[in-house]
Amino acid sequence: MAKFLVQKSGPLEGDVTISGSKNAVLPIMAAALLTEDKCVINDAPALRDVDVMCRLLESLGASVNKNLECNTVEIEACGELTWEAPFDLVKMMRASILVLGALIVRTGRATIPLPGGCAIGKRPVELHLKGLKALGVRIDEDQLARGIVDASADKLEGSIIYLDFPSVGATEVIMMTAAMAEGTTAIENAAQEPEIVDLANFLNKMGARIKGAGTDTIKIDGVDSMKGVSHHVIPDRIEAGTFMVAAAITKGSILIRNVVPDHLKAVIAKLRECGVVIQMTDEGVLVRGDVNEMISTDIKTLPYPGFPTDMQSPFMSLLTVAKGPSVVIETVFENRFMHVGEFNRMGANIKTDGNCAIIPGDKELQGAQVVATDLRAGAAVVLAGLVAEGTTEISQIYHIDRGYENFVEKLRTLGANIMRVDEL
Ligand code: EPZ
Repeated sequence: MAKFLVQKSGPLEGDVTISGSKNAVLPIMAAALLTEDKCVINDAPALRDVDVMCRLLESLGASVNKNLECNTVEIEACGELTWEAPFDLVKMMRASILVLGALIVRTGRATIPLPGGCAIGKRPVELHLKGLKALGVRIDEDQLARGIVDASADKLEGSIIYLDFPSVGATEVIMMTAAMAEGTTAIENAAQEPEIVDLANFLNKMGARIKGAGTDTIKIDGVDSMKGVSHHVIPDRIEAGTFMVAAAITKGSILIRNVVPDHLKAVIAKLRECGVVIQMTDEGVLVRGDVNEMISTDIKTLPYPGFPTDMQSPFMSLLTVAKGPSVVIETVFENRFMHVGEFNRMGANIKTDGNCAIIPGDKELQGAQVVATDLRAGAAVVLAGLVAEGTTEISQIYHIDRGYENFVEKLRTLGANIMRVDEL
């Protein structure tokens, strides 16, 4: 299995261009099932998860032409689709559940085996199913008990749906399904992430009538048909945040191109509290960790617009070396501190109690053999390796390949001592 070898690096300096958002492109690819026309998705990042979604859509009967060298994916879901998602693909990516709604709209049926829990939590889908049932979808409870979502519907009718938690995936699945249900649907306590807005914009281009995306209440007036469109995916705010932390932790200066600062308000605010200088320029966002000493701050993850859970582990790498103690509280996922053990192997001396982590800070990290425990934690240990004495050897880097396009190349261009090696 391939590994990353990371050596202590000087300040990272230069420009980096952010890729299209993984968490925007995946639901948009699923939504392309809602029309028999061709959809052209631009700025699709060349990621393992995008590959898996392409293979999943093909397995359902769509024709997919991916040209990830120029970051384009064409999807044409014409003709008969099958409603059964193959387990060997679904188990590779939890986001496969995103095809659930569109499949029911197209075929009246969907059978999707649920992958088990993952490193960061159980990942239940009861809110997705609550919304679908409200729209008239029947769920086979015996199959569900066996971990298979077996859904069918003769007719989809709009409804008012309250989400007990503003689930991103549930909001997306319900929005896609309601887009072609008869009548009006309201999603209350909806997720407000920028990726929800990007999906709504894509659906509205296709002919949907969605209002309020980006707020906690989304109104959808169902339509009879949707057409093929082309769309540019928003930049990946979590990749952008990761490179902002890279500038901070290495005391460097990085110009981040293709980023929407509004999507990163919480992350920018917290980095500024640590002493990072962040300037908006016409070219992009200039992030400077070379002006002030890095000092600690406290983090509490929340649904958008709060501090994003996906930035919790990358930000924690900065807190391990910042001056002073800090507290990190993870409220979105129930098991998202797997990276703490890896940071402690490097000398961070972090203590955790439930969803709370205490980071003493002021540490001189030491290189170690560590594991990428999930996609964002993998990026986090890379950042820590850039400032640790000696060599940090990171395994299970397939997690990182899921969500960071050309991560090694982008870091090396900025001066990072990092290389990918295939295990001998
Ligand atoms: C999306 O996952 C993202 N993935 C995640 O990014 C991100 O961390 C998460 O949203 C939160 O922002 C994609 O967009 C592909 P949720 P999703 O449903 O939709 C609980 C990354 O690193 N919940 O908002 O699965 C759930 O258990 C990935 O890029 C229920 O309890 O997130 C979790 O604790 C990781 N019941 C919380 O809500 C449900 O029915 C947030 O889940 C659904 C969710």
